[in-house]
Amino acid sequence: MKKDSVKVGLIGFGTIGKGVAKLFLNSGTIINSKSGIPVELKKICDLDITTDRGIKIPAGVLTTDVNDILNDPEIDIVIELMGGYKPALDFVLRALNSGKNVVTANKALLSKYWDEISAAAAKNGVQVMAEASVGGGIPILRGMDKGLAANRIEKIMAILNGTCNYILTKMTFEKMSFDAALKEAQAKGFAEADPTLDIEGFDTMHKITILSTMAFGGRVREQDIPVEGIKKIDYTDIEYAGEFGYVMKLLAVAEREGGLASVRVHPALVNKKHLLASVNNEFNAIYLKGDAVGETLFYGRGAGEMPTASAVLSDVIYISRDISNGMKRAAKEIKTGNFVKMQKSGEVVSKYYLRFTVVDKIGVLASIAGVLGKNNIGIESVIQKVQKQHEQVPVVIMTYSARESDMKKSLKKIDAMKAVKEKTVVYRVVDL
Ligand code: HSE
Repeated sequence: MKKDSVKVGLIGFGTIGKGVAKLFLNSGTIINSKSGIPVELKKICDLDITTDRGIKIPAGVLTTDVNDILNDPEIDIVIELMGGYKPALDFVLRALNSGKNVVTANKALLSKYWDEISAAAAKNGVQVMAEASVGGGIPILRGMDKGLAANRIEKIMAILNGTCNYILTKMTFEKMSFDAALKEAQAKGFAEADPTLDIEGFDTMHKITILSTMAFGGRVREQDIPVEGIKKIDYTDIEYAGEFGYVMKLLAVAEREGGLASVRVHPALVNKKHLLASVNNEFNAIYLKGDAVGETLFYGRGAGEMPTASAVLSDVIYISRDISNGMKRAAKEIKTGNFVKMQKSGEVVSKYYLRFTVVDKIGVLASIAGVLGKNNIGIESVIQKVQKQHEQVPVVIMTYSARESDMKKSLKKIDAMKAVKEKTVVYRVVDL
């Protein structure tokens, strides 16, 4: 049945919710004309509706009772911006089971409960759209799903956390401390309510779970993804990386070869000439390789009020167009159990940066090189810093491509040597 207007309910009136409300108030004409139907923000629900957020919400719109949205048969689209698992999952499932479409920015929820959510949407013939959940304002999900539909996606390398990228940029270019940079990112509204999700890499993991599941057309699960964050990064390594021609980035990588995929999150040294190396501050970028299109790069603001609101509203418009055309489109379901086959992590091949702390004695470097050589790891370049009056010196080695299992075996041997004084620092390296 064709409707003459679309009614929207928003749950969660925090930073992004405020941006969404602002867009509704300031860009109503554009939203309506692009949707082909009047779109009304009928209700906004939050536990706190008294704080002055600097925008004038029309009378009767604000509520603290979520049932005013979930039980309202007039509401066609529920925007979920509360974040977290509880009670967000319950609200999303209730909305879908009442035949409402859902737009969400909740990457943690989708990453963990993809099966339940997509099954409920498919069963009820409604859509779940989550453009804002990955890459903030960058239209990567739609771009990949629609614009690159003809491709087999072979590789994704992405910077997906604005907070981490902001911190690393400030550490690299302004020598700012980790804590000061994190404080700034929090003040700018990029960080999660619990910033450990950002800095320990879990926010990036949530996003690459969603992205790789869509890219590979099968479920990639959180437990398939090794995660390493940026908390332990030492400025020394950022500096040495710079000398070798690299910058430190937190990367999400998803690649597949011969039917086996590898999906992972870790800091990496990215060659300064690679496009991803110039992605700074809160910007995100997704470098994606398809078999037909070749290399592509999606770039934009990955966090913050208005960029994320932009993605939320574009989903609302997209669904409103269908409603305006009288179409009912069901979410695509990736069947539970259709898991992507994962490569064993030890088989993953990459170049490495290694920083050893060793006693400054003849033969030490030769012994390290010997262990690496025995494990099929070739050395590309070496820097040894002379530190007068110090017995210990840093030796930095860049290797050629090596298997992770070979690297682990070598480091176990090397770190046990008498001449090696600290645990070796290891990062993967991304070249052109
Ligand atoms: N905390 C996230 C980030 C927000 O810093 O990227 C956007 O998902």
